[in-house]
Amino acid sequence: MAKSILVGKKPTKYEVEILDKPISKSKFSTALKSYNKVLVVTDNGLPKKYLADIKKLIPKSKKVYIHTLSAGEKSKSLKSFNSILENLASLKFDRTDCLIALGGGMVGDVTGFVASSYLRGIDFIQIPTTLLSQVDSSVGGKTAINISQGKNLVGAFYNPKKVFISLAYLKTLSEKEFKSGLGEVVKYAFILNAKLHKILNSNSSLVLSRDLKILEEVIHESIKTKSKIVTQDEKENGIRAILNFGHTFGHAIEAKNNYKGISHGEAVVLGMIIASEISFLENYISRKELDEIKSLITSLGLSSDYKKYNYSDLKPFILNDKKVSKGKLNLILLKKIGSAFKTSKFKNSNLSKAFK
Ligand SMILES: NC(=O)c1ccc[n+]([C@@H]2O[C@H](COP(=O)([O-])OP(=O)(O)OC[C@H]3O[C@@H](n4cnc5c(N)ncnc54)[C@H](O)[C@@H]3O)[C@@H](O)[C@H]2O)c1
Repeated sequence: MAKSILVGKKPTKYEVEILDKPISKSKFSTALKSYNKVLVVTDNGLPKKYLADIKKLIPKSKKVYIHTLSAGEKSKSLKSFNSILENLASLKFDRTDCLIALGGGMVGDVTGFVASSYLRGIDFIQIPTTLLSQVDSSVGGKTAINISQGKNLVGAFYNPKKVFISLAYLKTLSEKEFKSGLGEVVKYAFILNAKLHKILNSNSSLVLSRDLKILEEVIHESIKTKSKIVTQDEKENGIRAILNFGHTFGHAIEAKNNYKGISHGEAVVLGMIIASEISFLENYISRKELDEIKSLITSLGLSSDYKKYNYSDLKPFILNDKKVSKGKLNLILLKKIGSAFKTSKFKNSNLSKAFK
């Protein structure tokens, strides 16, 4: 059964549809009804069949063009941004036309940013194909590219017209990419969604075997959580900060490793454990809750080995974090499982204690 969630506020509110099957021709035709030309942006790491199937869904009356990027974070660049813009201009795209992002967060972020700026904004539809892009990057309207000075430094808040999430894509995802998405799912459970926590706790092996019924529920709950947060705080002035749970320590771990050998997702999971340890030391959560957090992470096959890092090694990177404001570090901590908050009031000694 398809499930639907509305994200954002009028006039840029949009529908995220979760489908347990491939996208149907009739649904896709309806979404494309008002457009003339279509440019599908994708990357060469996806199984070839996905693009071929999407092409078959587009009504014959539309002109269809394809723009394929090389797979990988390197393509989230000014060069790709420019090449898509030049393609659109030479194909004489105008505001009656649209872009489709078929791929993971990399494709979604670049395509969304192009859509936000070409002719001061044309429509785009997202078809996220990784777990991370389905539960995270396709929801919330953030688009971006990287420049040599840093990741996601250039971008815009720009909502798609529609997001199609088909669980069928998840079958071909590598274990590493699947786990990276699971890290975000677990985060939603810890920061705001106790129901999701229960579902994950009772069904970890079904989740790991990618059982479609459970994944549909898990993805639905995840998107509901992200949608609730981003709809309340579209431009990141308030509650959206809780989405950064685990990120201060996660970023520090990534930086300490020179961004090699550990993925962003893996580092954030370790960061979430450290932030949970501090929540325990600050007397917000109980020892039992802390153990539950760790055991859920382990039961989902995610690494929890943060003790190979020590505070003094990570400290310079922690203090360099964006979350340091007026010299004071802001942390996202847990009041209980399913409830996070931002605070700068904690004992500094608990930062180092969390690593012992
Ligand atoms: N905009 C946001 O709010 C937001 C949020 C989180 C992350 N992001 C961004 O998302 C990006 C990461 O996205 P990602 O994790 O999806 O990685 P990705 O887009 O780089 O995709 C990872 C790999 O999986 C392949 N792939 C995609 N779908 C597949 C499928 N169904 N089967 C097999 N292979 C498939 C891709 O070709 C690629 O090689 C980062 O750039 C990050 O900054 C953005």
